Amino acid sequence: MTYRTHTCGELRLVDAGKRVVLSGWVRRLRDLGSMIFIDLRDRYGITQLAFDESRSELMDAARKLGREFVIRIEGEVVERASKNPQLPTGDIEVKVESLEVLNVSEIPPFLIEDETDGGEELRMKYRYLDIRRNPVKNNLIFRSKVTQAVRNYLIDRGFVDIETPYLIKSTPEGARDFVVPSRLHPGQFYALPQSPQTFKQLLMVGGMDKYMQIVKCFRDEDLRADRQPEFTQIDCEMSFVTREDVLRTFEGLLRHLLIQFHDFDPGPFPRLSYEEAMERYGSDKPDIRFGMELADITAVAQTRDFGVFNQAEYVGAISVSGAAGYSRKQLNEITDWVKRPQVGAKGLVWVKYREDGSFKSTVDKFFTMDDYQKWAEKADAKPGDLILILSGDKDKTRRQLGLLRMEMAERLGLRKPDIFAPLWILDFPLLEWDEETGRYHAMHHPFTSPKPEDIHLLDSTPEKVRANAYDLVLNGNEIAGGSIRIHDRKLQEKMFELLGFSREEAERQFGFLMNAFQYGAPPHGGIAWGLDRLVAILAGKESIRDFIAFPKNNAGRDVMIDAPDYISPEQLKELHLEVKSPSKINN
Ligand code: AMO
Repeated sequence: MTYRTHTCGELRLVDAGKRVVLSGWVRRLRDLGSMIFIDLRDRYGITQLAFDESRSELMDAARKLGREFVIRIEGEVVERASKNPQLPTGDIEVKVESLEVLNVSEIPPFLIEDETDGGEELRMKYRYLDIRRNPVKNNLIFRSKVTQAVRNYLIDRGFVDIETPYLIKSTPEGARDFVVPSRLHPGQFYALPQSPQTFKQLLMVGGMDKYMQIVKCFRDEDLRADRQPEFTQIDCEMSFVTREDVLRTFEGLLRHLLIQFHDFDPGPFPRLSYEEAMERYGSDKPDIRFGMELADITAVAQTRDFGVFNQAEYVGAISVSGAAGYSRKQLNEITDWVKRPQVGAKGLVWVKYREDGSFKSTVDKFFTMDDYQKWAEKADAKPGDLILILSGDKDKTRRQLGLLRMEMAERLGLRKPDIFAPLWILDFPLLEWDEETGRYHAMHHPFTSPKPEDIHLLDSTPEKVRANAYDLVLNGNEIAGGSIRIHDRKLQEKMFELLGFSREEAERQFGFLMNAFQYGAPPHGGIAWGLDRLVAILAGKESIRDFIAFPKNNAGRDVMIDAPDYISPEQLKELHLEVKSPSKINN
């Protein structure tokens, strides 16, 4: 017995006359009375099965089949009378001579078709059925191809694939840890890695020279379309490298992928400093597939008696090409959009630069046509464009304009999924002041080296110190980030001190790393890519969930297996955790 001689995507006209065995799922059954047709589906495609009156017992058996039944058939490949050019197998059908039901199926809760009637939550609950659909299946297959290409590229260049442990202790990457209670050590916990950062550095101390790993990371943070609590990194580290070496190596990797999957060579990647990115795009992950750059119009906007601008640290504008004809309703919509808490602007000033060269604005009471002309020049606006202006605190306003720029690009369809515009962002600030805790945070992570020329500022003006760190941005998404590391114990100690760790705390949490630095740690640096994001963007999408076989929902739940879940009092006790009574559990 064999389940199949061919897959459901394989047979062609040249196979006519062959006797074949196929297994798969019943996608659809059409009963024409004297004939029955079944679309049989597997991962590889769909093949039409034909039953005719010459075998009435087979027709009866076929009539008992339902959608998603698993069957095995034997039969002969024949040329179809009416061909289906949409299907690769559309020239043939299999005339069934025997039919065996391998398994029955309940009626599926949604249509297993490219266009389904199932809502997101329902499809997540029955993810195994969703995976039978082409869009999801193809995403997973595409992910596998990208992963393989990445691995080959790196291994070919001398990287060694090394696994690092999952049961570790806290790695500070800026999120909360997921923790695992220890049974053998009462009251103690492992933390799941937010990244393998410290281990890959220890591998460099261990002389491995070039490390790579495609690895799960765990971060307890708020979820968004591009964030999951467990996600996959392409994690890499190299010894005896400068920033330039790292950038060159990984620019090569992305170029390789773009050529392999899209036949697209992006050319040398532009490089922007963090400061320049904020100034020109109001974002440290700018989408540069389109212009609409921010213009600082502070000097030419603070010339009249308009308090809102005069009191602002910064007045900035973007020019939206061809949007001067926007209706009052559209403009109100954009104004409401910038006032959403997620954006947080107090209001929006707009100026229409009409085709006839005149201007119309919300602030006509205060400003003259000459004033607008100056703004238009700064914002590079032409007749027919709409100038949008925000004002206030410099950092905040630039970020808000950056969000508005992305929103307008989205509305105008400027974010084309088949164009790829990668760039490097360099020279991030080393530290970020956190108002809430009143301390500095490492903007990348505490193991990132300051730029050598800024080290002398560490004591006097730490906020001015730039990091030897870099992000790789693709189409407005941060797809990778890394840095040259500190490899000197003294500097690492200093860094922890700046971050507000006491000597004892630093020693307890990271003594193992600082000790390792005392045994000949080589200069080293590396990078980690968000694989889920990379795959999604390469496929022209932004939601990473569609590229993960079993993702969590927005609330961080796996609705299929229903996790997280309570555990039994016995298990809690074994783990030395407080034993709650069932009534407490229900609360
Ligand atoms: P970083 O924290 O920047 O760096 O992470 C690297 C990349 O991982 C992706 N990423 C995520 N993807 C999906 N869901 C998430 N919750 C999530 N968080 C991050 C992003 C990001 O660019 N150890 C350092 C790397 C290094 O210094 O070498 C690190 O983890 O695409």
